[in-house]
Amino acid sequence: MQYDQRVPEDPVAVRIFLDEAAEPIASYRPPARFHMDTRSMRDGEHTLRIEAVDALGNTGVRLIPFVVSNGPGITVTGLRAGSRVRGGVDIDINAFSAEEPFDPVRAESAGPIPVWTWVLIVVIAVWGMWYGLEYFATPPAFAQTPTYAPNPTLVAAEAPAVQTSVQTPAPVASNAATGSKNVAGFDYSALGAQVYSGNCASCHGETGAGTPGAFPPLAGDPVVTGKDADAHIKIVLHGLSGKSIAGTKYAAQMPAFAAQLSDAQIAAVIDHERTSWGNQAATITPGQVSRDR
Ligand code: HEC
Repeated sequence: MQYDQRVPEDPVAVRIFLDEAAEPIASYRPPARFHMDTRSMRDGEHTLRIEAVDALGNTGVRLIPFVVSNGPGITVTGLRAGSRVRGGVDIDINAFSAEEPFDPVRAESAGPIPVWTWVLIVVIAVWGMWYGLEYFATPPAFAQTPTYAPNPTLVAAEAPAVQTSVQTPAPVASNAATGSKNVAGFDYSALGAQVYSGNCASCHGETGAGTPGAFPPLAGDPVVTGKDADAHIKIVLHGLSGKSIAGTKYAAQMPAFAAQLSDAQIAAVIDHERTSWGNQAATITPGQVSRDR
């Protein structure tokens, strides 16, 4: 039997070297399993060199760099590899045993609070302030209610200098002089329109015209334009049914609003009805509503 000398054969020997050593630490016939005990090696970088030699004497080499770490683990903060430093540098160092690598007390070393944590705290604080301002801001619909609107009497008392120098009549006096709908500083206009479209317009119509035969018109209605507003207040507070209005008997009921609406809201919507769509009746205040409740 004859072999072509130029055809390489299977490797016949494998030799294993550690680092720069000239003598192999083991040699085998492949395939082989090799057990390496790192505890006899110093911690740090090493290289395993594996050489395979075939029958013709050709050598294949494989280099495997690796790091041995049997000693205590070390954590360092304050100095990183390759960093550029100047003056004094504070460096925190900690070490933890290899037997207990997960002991949190030993593994943790003090470090500065990372920048992203500060950014997150600032973002949350700013959002919280924005939310608080939004939450306590007066909604425009309520800006003119007695609770939120500035009291004209107090405003006048706080600014007496303006009054004397400009020589205008006191605001309270001018209010009384106009004899306006704005009785006792109660300004219903914005709130009244808002309560009306939210609670009444679905039946009585945005323009107070009602629906013929189903819901009575409020424009020109005798109760709404009546001199004594008590009947008007009581109907809105307690509802109404079975009444004939201008010769029409309405099958539907007028719901009671005492539970849903506050005194100010009821007074505002009543004043809105009494001064809209051509109606020109005297207006009321929240105090009258609370008396009729
Ligand atoms: C569900 C429909 C409906 C809604 C909503 C409604 N009403 Fe009425 N309202 C009626 C009906 C029906 C009558 C007539 C009842 C009757 O004749 O017995 C009526 C009657 C009235 C009257 C009496 C008119 C009169 O001449 O006696 C007034 C005042 C009135 N409504 C005001 C309001 C106000 C203010 C609101 C909103 C806060 C409102 N209504 C919401 C259906 C409604």
